[in-house]
Amino acid sequence: MERSLILLKPDCVQRRLIGRIISRFEDKGLNIVGMKLMQITPDLAKQHYAEHVAKPFYPGLEAFITASPVVAMVLEGLEAIRVIRDILGATSGLKAAAGTIRGDFSSSRQMNLVHASDGPEAAAREIKLYFTDAELCDCTLSLTPWLR
Ligand code: PPS
Repeated sequence: MERSLILLKPDCVQRRLIGRIISRFEDKGLNIVGMKLMQITPDLAKQHYAEHVAKPFYPGLEAFITASPVVAMVLEGLEAIRVIRDILGATSGLKAAAGTIRGDFSSSRQMNLVHASDGPEAAAREIKLYFTDAELCDCTLSLTPWLR
């Protein structure tokens, strides 16, 4: 089983798409092991996007991600990191394939609705930025074996 950090970004929350986006993940069989509505501070944004802080687009990205609350989630499942990125589609909504979340709901590279960890190391780092161990549940314990 793999875990990934997901952010439903301010555009997703403001457009009232939270339920529809979470449904796509649940439909695929991913388990929610942590979830909260929260405000990202400029300091947290700089930690989260540390590799992009020096890039020209960073100031706009920080202004966007701190503009209003996000939903932070940890999703768990088999090959969850790749599966989630497949469900999201390409970074830019303009390039994302139809049928993916971004392909269906976004036309922007910045306002692309959802962030997802891009690999196991990023996932471990990002999950620790947003959640304490006590905030994460092992949902598989309550599932019957054939649903895990
Ligand atoms: S990179 O450096 O462009 O390859 O980065 P990428 O992995 O594609 O994207 C990383 C995050 O930065 C956001 N991004 C941008 N925002 C605004 N303007 C521009 N030009 C831009 N390019 C990348 C992009 O939405 C990614 O956010 P996350 O939260 O990781 O999806």
